[in-house]
Amino acid sequence: MTLPLTLIETLRRANSVAVLTGAGISAESGLPTFREAQTGLWAKYEPTELATPQAFERNPQLVWDWYAWRRELVTQSKPNAGHYALAAMERHLHATGKTFTLITQNVDGFHHLVGHQTVLELHGNIQRTKCYRENTVIPTWPSTEERPPRCPRCGGYLRPDVVWFGEALPPATLTAALQAAQVCEVFFSIGTSGLVEPAASLPRLALDAKACVVEINPTPTPLTPQATYAIAGASGTVLPELVQAVWP
Ligand code: OAD
Repeated sequence: MTLPLTLIETLRRANSVAVLTGAGISAESGLPTFREAQTGLWAKYEPTELATPQAFERNPQLVWDWYAWRRELVTQSKPNAGHYALAAMERHLHATGKTFTLITQNVDGFHHLVGHQTVLELHGNIQRTKCYRENTVIPTWPSTEERPPRCPRCGGYLRPDVVWFGEALPPATLTAALQAAQVCEVFFSIGTSGLVEPAASLPRLALDAKACVVEINPTPTPLTPQATYAIAGASGTVLPELVQAVWP
């Protein structure tokens, strides 16, 4: 794939870079995305029955089991070349005192696994569990057959520490992401359909602030016509090539 020379130059000169990732960056790790026809999770499952507080109140076992299945998929998978390329991008930028902010909608934790110290996880992390009633993270609980398990402190149900439809995003994380989008010189939107707010607003904020906005996605999205560069390709191929071209 031939990458635009002007993009390579822009990235080489940039003092601050922000990156937003979505399910597409983990697709090459074997994790299903949400909205793709046939293969997306929301093509097979009904979000209102699995990813809302109401669903959990109606059928906590079903919701717990569905997330346990997805957690198992994550545990059996590993980060791919796209994740590693972003970690390399961060190392190159930090080595020269530049700013790099990584924002993700993904709950798989793969960005942490490849060495990023700070990841703004807008939608939580599937490997973490919290108390449904008290909304506090619970690191361990006594082994039990019960699903969902009970909170060792209050006896209420445990739930995955992910953001469900209708729930607020972690406020400090969202504030940091909004700030990064507004001050960066280059903003990447990678592997996201850009249909879920407030994450979908981040590239628009970056565009309004005159950043160079780069989309990497094999399929067009609402952002595609507005992006400064829209690279139609898989992140596991495009990102390593880009990093290699900018920092040979
Ligand atoms: P989507 O499933 O909506 O979009 C995934 C995007 O990844 C699509 O635009 C694909 O074209 C693209 N894609 C697929 N393979 C790719 C590859 N190899 N490289 C690059 N891009 C690829 O997933 P998200 O946009 O992440 O929220 O969805 C946003 C949120 O909706 C999720 O965080 C989740 C979901 O409901 C919650 O659960 C709160």
